[in-house]
Amino acid sequence: MSQDPIHQPIAHDSAVGHVTGSARYVDDEPLPAHTLHLAPVLSTCAHGELGARDYSGALAMPGVVAVYDVDRIPGRNDVSPVAGDDPLFADQRVEYAGQLIAVVAAHSRVIAQQAAQRVRIETRPLPAIVTLEQAMAQSSFIQAPYQMEAGQPDQALSDAPHRLSGTLDIGGQDHFYLEGQAALAMPNNEGDLRILSSTQHPSEVQHAVARVLGWAQHRVDVHVRRLGGGFGGKETQGNGVAAACALVASDLGCPVKWVLDRDDDMRMTGKRHDFKIQYQVGFDAAGRIHALDMTQHVRCGYSMDLSSAIADRAMFHADNAYHIENMRVRSLRYKTHTVSATAFRGFGGPQGMMGIERVIQAIAHELRLDPVDVRLRNLYPQAPPQRTHYGMAVQDAVTEPLIHDLMEACDYRKRRAEIQAHNATQPTIRRGIALTPVKFGISFTTTHLNQAGALVHIYQDGSVQVNHGGIEMGQGLYTKISQLAASVLGLELSSIRVTQTQTDKVPNTSATAASSGADMNGMAVVRACETLRERLMSFVAQHWSCDLEQLSWERGQVRGPDQVWSFGELIQQAYLNRISLSAVGFYATPDIHWDREQAQGRPFYYFAYGAAVTEVSVDTLTGENRIDRVDILHDCGRSLNPAIDLGQIEGGYIQGLGWLTTEELVWSEQGTLMTHAPSTYKVPCARDTPAIFNAQLWAPGQNRELTVRRSKAVGEPPLMLAMSAFYALEDAITQDTYPALNAPATAERLLNAL
Ligand code: MTE
Ligand code: MOS
Repeated sequence: MSQDPIHQPIAHDSAVGHVTGSARYVDDEPLPAHTLHLAPVLSTCAHGELGARDYSGALAMPGVVAVYDVDRIPGRNDVSPVAGDDPLFADQRVEYAGQLIAVVAAHSRVIAQQAAQRVRIETRPLPAIVTLEQAMAQSSFIQAPYQMEAGQPDQALSDAPHRLSGTLDIGGQDHFYLEGQAALAMPNNEGDLRILSSTQHPSEVQHAVARVLGWAQHRVDVHVRRLGGGFGGKETQGNGVAAACALVASDLGCPVKWVLDRDDDMRMTGKRHDFKIQYQVGFDAAGRIHALDMTQHVRCGYSMDLSSAIADRAMFHADNAYHIENMRVRSLRYKTHTVSATAFRGFGGPQGMMGIERVIQAIAHELRLDPVDVRLRNLYPQAPPQRTHYGMAVQDAVTEPLIHDLMEACDYRKRRAEIQAHNATQPTIRRGIALTPVKFGISFTTTHLNQAGALVHIYQDGSVQVNHGGIEMGQGLYTKISQLAASVLGLELSSIRVTQTQTDKVPNTSATAASSGADMNGMAVVRACETLRERLMSFVAQHWSCDLEQLSWERGQVRGPDQVWSFGELIQQAYLNRISLSAVGFYATPDIHWDREQAQGRPFYYFAYGAAVTEVSVDTLTGENRIDRVDILHDCGRSLNPAIDLGQIEGGYIQGLGWLTTEELVWSEQGTLMTHAPSTYKVPCARDTPAIFNAQLWAPGQNRELTVRRSKAVGEPPLMLAMSAFYALEDAITQDTYPALNAPATAERLLNAL
């Protein structure tokens, strides 16, 4: 029997399928007979009153079956996750260009799309608030301001030997998952619905569909095998797509499919929040921060979506890895007539961290210090634990040793000196370097979401089927889950089948988000497998008339005082003796609590840490630039799967790089998104990968908390390592005056700054 698969660098279970194209997504499902296809009718106006709707041109086309709008909804016109403010179809008014007004159902996708072009909608335009500046000027809030505070920020600011203030604008980001939002709704013989959806949150799709149809939730099953990337963009944004399919399918009694094409997806669905951050900081001659007063202005778009939790997380991360005794963070959340901003890898954390990293860079420039030294002087110490601005003791701080290891490994000091020498003699191609740390809180800050379930079956041939509430979106969750099940049951990976995620197998699931997919579902699966194992052991002890202590459960067999059974024999015997071979598992993250009223508590079970050094060169004549080298050390605790975790680290970094360098969302003055295709919206490509890319797991990493096999979540934290690229670009163009670059640092922006 081979070794325990846990902590091994095992390939993603769909690696071959992803590369060869045989891994099936919703769009690849063979369609049942009589499937209809949908196409959207979208608002072209950012804010306006809806007038007459003329569908006659569309309905006259051969192949068109029907048009559905708000008047056809039997239940509630709401697909929102929290606040009840996201209509499936616009009703009376539209609030962003790209908002869904109606869907055309036809026998083919092409016919549906052509017919949608023939729909005529009258809209009377109203004044639109498009930019953050306009929203600020008009105090257009979507939610009450919120504040976290520690120490005496005002007093400490006025007492500090040095003070600086500044502003940082941070742009949004489109998820650019390869697979557009997709759903296929299929009525069954009772008239209930089975829905295949590309969602990170099948339970919420189930709820949204039931709400729109006015049904009980038990009539809707949502199934998800895999997503072609989610990145937070499929946490809430698939609800409408699935609900529209469900509406038409339940009304006409036939299967209905809708897969958004790229332009529709980019116009219709939410993106990362853009921020404006203002700060005042007080510090001493060594660069130690005495006080920080920060305001985060958040552009939420037309509705709430998850903005409350996202803006909160930005506040939780306003300190990043630094202990600031006197600190105030204010968060102002604005309504604009643009698409509702939504979850995106990091969930507000990246924007929060960008703010404090800007502050550090500005202090270092003011004092003419190496920014690394300013960082080192402000880090949370390993001991004694210090409290954050929201009262949580940081007990697991490891950035200090981790940064030291990274600086050694990549020769930071020497390279920085070389770069400075180069820049002193070479005015055209300037180089830059920066090191930034990451400290990212793991857990949903909405405490009740931190729960997960699993259902494990052992069949008579000894093969095991594992179901859990998590979604596979490329991050390798299913692979980690099979490793865990195989490890607990002492089996080969090939004995374990993780099946698609279904609301009818594991109910009331939370979104696979907040990086806690493996932490929580992994633990639920471990518990279900342990239950089975204990049940089987008791059976064997009874059957062999021995004590439990005399039994050992080794890989693939049970051994007693004078007998051995293979796993297959054990299962046969257990079945014949009428022992249940199925078990559920449940997990709720312990020890976390959050009092939003007081802005105090322990919202996170633990923190994930990492640090990166990025080196760049910038052509000062054009602003064009290259990421020359990246060195990363990241703490995954005891990694469940080092190969997958390294993939997450590299992928996260590159996605963050896109956000901070080339991906720019541009809206017209009227509020139309101008960048809705890869022709104008530039995600990083293979060529943008740094020539030297050294990513490593930090070897001493461990988790002081009792997480699943002492691992740490890895999904989101590495994205923020790309801050080092942004500040390296800024470093390259910095001379006597501090450039205070805004994000993304596009070539255009770099040139202007130069
Ligand atoms: N990796 C891939 N390949 N595709 C994705 O969509 N989403 C990220 C991250 N890594 C994503 C990914 C986001 S936003 C989160 S929250 C986590 O994976 C979710 O999965 P986990 O909790 O299992 O890490
Ligand atoms: Mo990730 S933004 O929490 O889906």
